[in-house]
Amino acid sequence: MENSERIVCNCMGITEQEIIDAIKNHGCDTVEKVSDKTEAGTGCGGCVDEIEEIIKRELSK
Ligand code: FES
Repeated sequence: MENSERIVCNCMGITEQEIIDAIKNHGCDTVEKVSDKTEAGTGCGGCVDEIEEIIKRELSK
């Protein structure tokens, strides 16, 4: 598994790894579900496209 501590959501301080965990281990397959689980994307919304990309990438593995 990847271990990326890079911050994806600056507003909420959410790392790529936390988002991957939500996708892989909590069944979050949409941005909305990832946001509910991690709070990523609930601030300015500027990271939403990147969350979408991470979801697509992880689900295609
Ligand atoms: S950077 Fe994620 S909501 Fe602003």
